[in-house]
Amino acid sequence: MILVTGAAGKTGRYVIQELVEKGARIRAFVHHRAYIERVEEIGAIEVVHGDLCDRRTVDQAVEGIRAVYHIPPNVHPDEVAIGQTMISASQSAEIEHFVYHSVVHPHIEAMPHHWQKMRVEEQLFSCGLAFTILQPAAYMQNILAQWDTLIGDGCYRVPYPLETRLSLVDLKDVAEAARLVLTEDGHIGATYELIGTKPMSQVEVAQALSDGLGREVTVEKTPIEVWEQGARDAGLGTYAIETLTQMFHYYEHHDFVGSPQILNWLLGRPPTTLAEAIERKRARRENDN
Ligand SMILES: NC(=O)c1ccc[n+]([C@@H]2O[C@H](COP(=O)([O-])OP(=O)(O)OC[C@H]3O[C@@H](n4cnc5c(N)ncnc54)[C@H](OP(=O)(O)O)[C@@H]3O)[C@@H](O)[C@H]2O)c1
Repeated sequence: MILVTGAAGKTGRYVIQELVEKGARIRAFVHHRAYIERVEEIGAIEVVHGDLCDRRTVDQAVEGIRAVYHIPPNVHPDEVAIGQTMISASQSAEIEHFVYHSVVHPHIEAMPHHWQKMRVEEQLFSCGLAFTILQPAAYMQNILAQWDTLIGDGCYRVPYPLETRLSLVDLKDVAEAARLVLTEDGHIGATYELIGTKPMSQVEVAQALSDGLGREVTVEKTPIEVWEQGARDAGLGTYAIETLTQMFHYYEHHDFVGSPQILNWLLGRPPTTLAEAIERKRARRENDN
């Protein structure tokens, strides 16, 4: 049995689907009771719900588990403490393998959610557990989340300059990498960057969207104050807004780049391109209609 945390979130659902499709048995850790059905629908056979900050619930979640796939909450101020709790509970439960869902370049102090992941990685090195660390780039699904607007007004919006270059990865490839390290031998002690594309400017992203949708998609920089207001309206807390603003600032000044070589090797095939991810999304939407 494999425990997946952050199970009802964007990453968790891709990871569970991939593992279940290949026959793994999954216990899902969900935050709110309302999302239990969501993970059961995709094949989790057991569900624990509660707060990852609560040691007692985490102890229950790791009981009898072979491996943990720990997906930390997105921009959570207590990410390090949550990592500590997960590691300590996993030690007590004597699990065989702890896989940590980190991020590319956790060493960047200017991005607090990266720096927090670096501190959790550091604990893994000395805790005595058999571990693997996966470091994904920015997801293509962050872009595809704008699908309805892209179809509606044909404009792709980003809160950083259009020339900003980011390397991207398809969450489906991330999930496949997660399944491989959890089910194959040879990945204990490894740290793998999961990067699917060469760095792409936002103009290149918009071009890929135009090609995939068969219509012109323009690209526009959203002023940061407008983005912040939208985030507040959507219910994002102060820590999350400040952290994401720092991330956009970092992107603006330094880009966020890497190489797809490691993911190519791990998957045994070239990673999914942005064009392929757009086409998959387009085909799925057509089938839904
Ligand atoms: N987005 C990217 O491009 C990217 C790239 C690399 C790495 N990552 C990392 O991947 C991780 C997951 O990101 P995501 O986009 O999948 O986030 P997400 O969709 O927000 O999922 C995170 C999940 O964690 C749950 N959660 C939040 N607080 C919790 C708590 N205290 N106890 C238990 N569960 C809690 C959330 O549940 P509720 O919603 O019910 O609170 C949610 O289901 C993040 O750490 C992020 O930094 C993301």
